[in-house]
Amino acid sequence: MMNKKFFSRMGLTIINKCNQKCSWCFEGTWKNGETQIMSLENIKRLLEWKDWSDGFTPVIFILGGEPTLHPQLLDILDLITNHNPKISKMLLTNLTCDNMLLEEVLKRKVVIFANIDQFEPDNNVRNQSKILENLDYLNTNTGNGFQYNISATVSSLEKDFSFLYDILENGRDKINNLRLAPSCVGFEYKNQFQKNFGDEYFYKVFEVLTECLKIKPDLHLSTECAINGCMINHKLYEELKNIGYNLRYVCGEPEPNADILPDMSSHWCFALKGIPEMSINNVFDYPDYNSMIDTLRAKYMEFSKKYESKCNVMNCENEQCKGPCTALNYYYTLNG
Ligand SMILES: C[S@@+](CC[C@H](N)C(=O)[O-])C[C@H]1O[C@@H](n2cnc3c(N)ncnc32)[C@H](O)[C@@H]1O
Ligand code: SF4
Ligand code: SF4
Repeated sequence: MMNKKFFSRMGLTIINKCNQKCSWCFEGTWKNGETQIMSLENIKRLLEWKDWSDGFTPVIFILGGEPTLHPQLLDILDLITNHNPKISKMLLTNLTCDNMLLEEVLKRKVVIFANIDQFEPDNNVRNQSKILENLDYLNTNTGNGFQYNISATVSSLEKDFSFLYDILENGRDKINNLRLAPSCVGFEYKNQFQKNFGDEYFYKVFEVLTECLKIKPDLHLSTECAINGCMINHKLYEELKNIGYNLRYVCGEPEPNADILPDMSSHWCFALKGIPEMSINNVFDYPDYNSMIDTLRAKYMEFSKKYESKCNVMNCENEQCKGPCTALNYYYTLNG
């Protein structure tokens, strides 16, 4: 089941630092060590390097670490708009920033994807009041439409999602999309639990989404990467589809995320970052964005052939099954 391409996209991971500690974060220890910040010069070069006139809707995802910690975030947004005002700017943020910065970001017509998932009773709760204050601000200061979206992660089967239901209730009139997904593998095989499960995580997704739709029936739903989508039984797949949650089966369709990091390297996904066969050291070694993606795709095809599918659910009914996530196969082969 191929996903149709709608967007001409580029993902910019503009900083490696983060001020939160989400235990499941797929970037894991990549965020440690020396600060890496994407320079304005490189962003200018990237904007020119990519062809934005290929007929698809142009979009730039601004990511981190936590992108609001980049000292020149507003300059970056202005640079993008000045280069091409048609490019939509999507900011994925943990919403811990100063309220005045959020105000400036909104003035620049940025679409917000707020990671609201920082209410677990561990060491990740210290910025709660700031996040709640900014959510209130979004509830009153975004227009109706698609400017305000939220995301959360099913990182354990026991996770209590009452924080999500409360936030959705409060932002019911403004929140457009919820991205909810089981936690994916991540940098250095961080989230290993997936290998031991079948579709339990997706039953949990279904349960949480059903609750959310009771609160806001017209909520749009989206998912993360294709990890283990193929392991879901047919009935559950149909149930998820019926409520508007369209799972991806094939990794990298229509395109891999291939986010560009501050040092101008790129990779298929964070789970495969640092594996030379699946990474690109410097995107400017390629004449343009599309040729960089073609090279990554060729690398992926070669790589995935090498590692046998470790699918442990033997009753798969999906005719288009290509086996579970290649990163999972790879790490499973290495580590069991
Ligand atoms: C890595 S964060 C970077 C941007 C920003 N710090 C934030 O939290 O939104 C980007 C998105 O990835 C999601 N995410 C983090 N770890 C994940 C995982 N293991 N599986 C699925 N999504 C995850 C977060 O919820 C967030 O929406
Ligand atoms: S806020 Fe974002 S980058 Fe930071 S730990 Fe959480 S998911 Fe990862
Ligand atoms: S290999 Fe594909 S399915 Fe697996 S974690 Fe990476 S993007 Fe997701």
